Amino acid sequence: MRYDPMTPSTLDLFGNTEPEQPPKREQIGEQSYVLRGFALPSLDRLLPALEDVLVAAPFRQMVTPGGFTMSVALSSCGTLGWTTDRSGYRYTRADPQTGQPWPDMPDVFLELAHAAAEAAEFNDFMPDSCLINRYVPGAKMSLHQDKNEGSYAAPIVSVSLGLPAMFLFGGFARSDKSQRVPLFHGDIVVWGGVDRLRFHGVLPIKEGLHPQLGEQRINFTFRVAG
Ligand code: SIN
Ligand code: FE2
Repeated sequence: MRYDPMTPSTLDLFGNTEPEQPPKREQIGEQSYVLRGFALPSLDRLLPALEDVLVAAPFRQMVTPGGFTMSVALSSCGTLGWTTDRSGYRYTRADPQTGQPWPDMPDVFLELAHAAAEAAEFNDFMPDSCLINRYVPGAKMSLHQDKNEGSYAAPIVSVSLGLPAMFLFGGFARSDKSQRVPLFHGDIVVWGGVDRLRFHGVLPIKEGLHPQLGEQRINFTFRVAG
């Protein structure tokens, strides 16, 4: 898939085509980028595919090993789904709520994740897991590292939809100062390589109503888990 800006090429008064704009890519680490609006051209396919996944594996709130109920509600698709309960964080092949395999990862999810990774210079990204996070206003994600995967060779590709969020992009120790990166509907963050184990999190989502998604923020986190 090619990056397709919202307004591709505009004709000037003389009918000349302006040079195509390069993707808007903001570097936030040595191998970390924010791709502004990258998911927007895929939304027409992405949202119906999301609905199908959620029929089979509805959002649910999970409990951390420490016994806290997460404010974010979760679902997953792909071969492996990230889960947590009193016995720990892990990936499972079956949805613990239904006992059924997690829903297949829709092609449009895979294509988008692959293209975003490529735009951040990570080629051949083939995620086997997509965690789907739902934040309502007030929900947050504390600083953490993504460390339950079998290998850290592949990047993380994280898609934001709906209400805006303030993403915290930290260092390699929890106490390192974090950058604050505002994320909007359609933005994608990719981090990997030397940045793969950076701490990251999301500040509490502010009240608001998104024209397409209503009172929520949806995040897809694509990973190679197995
Ligand atoms: C996560 O780290 O699992 C989620 C990040 C986000 O919601 O942007
Ligand atoms: Fe994470």
